[in-house]
Amino acid sequence: MQEAGIDPDFQTIRVFPLTGALGAEIHGVDLTQTLSNAQAQEIVEAFHRYSVITLPDQPLSPEQHMEFGALFGPLMDLPHIPRVPGYELYHQVRREANETTRVAGGNWHSDSTFLKSPPAAIVMRAVDVPPFGGDTLFTSSYLAYETLSEAFKEQLERLSAVHSATRVFGQTARQEGTKYTHREGVSVEEGEKETVHPVVCVHPGSGKKHLLVNRTYTQRFDGWTAEESAGLLNYLYDHISRAEFNCRIRWRNDTVLVWDNRATMHRAVPDFMGKFRLLHRTTHSGPRPSA
Ligand code: SIN
Repeated sequence: MQEAGIDPDFQTIRVFPLTGALGAEIHGVDLTQTLSNAQAQEIVEAFHRYSVITLPDQPLSPEQHMEFGALFGPLMDLPHIPRVPGYELYHQVRREANETTRVAGGNWHSDSTFLKSPPAAIVMRAVDVPPFGGDTLFTSSYLAYETLSEAFKEQLERLSAVHSATRVFGQTARQEGTKYTHREGVSVEEGEKETVHPVVCVHPGSGKKHLLVNRTYTQRFDGWTAEESAGLLNYLYDHISRAEFNCRIRWRNDTVLVWDNRATMHRAVPDFMGKFRLLHRTTHSGPRPSA
């Protein structure tokens, strides 16, 4: 008999959708062992279908993590995310129990959209996480686009938006006194560099349209002032966050999670003050976003 809630289309792994919007939990596979071609293919298929996949109880070494991550694209560096000591392309999201500053990643965003080619995918593993608190929320950028009216979609498809990292490690972060655990040598000037992406992009894998604006990196619509842009951008940020587009991931040590950085946005839930939290991550490159 078929297990309750299972996606029956997969033969070599067990895939359980998390919500009606996106996300699936995968069982029946051990990532510390060599995957069969069929398993690897089905994991990638589940990733494309659900945009966020989690695989619980996977105690990967950094090398095993990087090898698994290669299924989702070539490894890339990011200028601002601290590295795990001893590695060039293996990063950490680390927060000490005694930190009191704003939790990084607390606004809805896609990773690093200030880059010309933001990451295609991120593979993250919980190394040492609190027993509760510190979940990560995901939202579907496909649904955020698809649920808009046809007339509004047409207007948005004519717009591009300017992105930069000013609020993360540029001038704005400096003015606001934001402490961000960026790496030595990452300059404020780097944070001011601007790049332009279409507001509505076509996902290179699925061919589906998705929204690409976020509160962390988007500054304004291209050719508009920040003041002119604010009303419409705020509307889109509220729309993106609607609960029916979301899933919520509760981390356990050794949960491995892969997210599609084009098809989704995410935010950390800052409810773990006073607790240590450490996750390791790899970042995987893809083509420049295009309309
Ligand atoms: C991130 O925003 O990239 C990290 C998310 C998290 O810490 O949960």
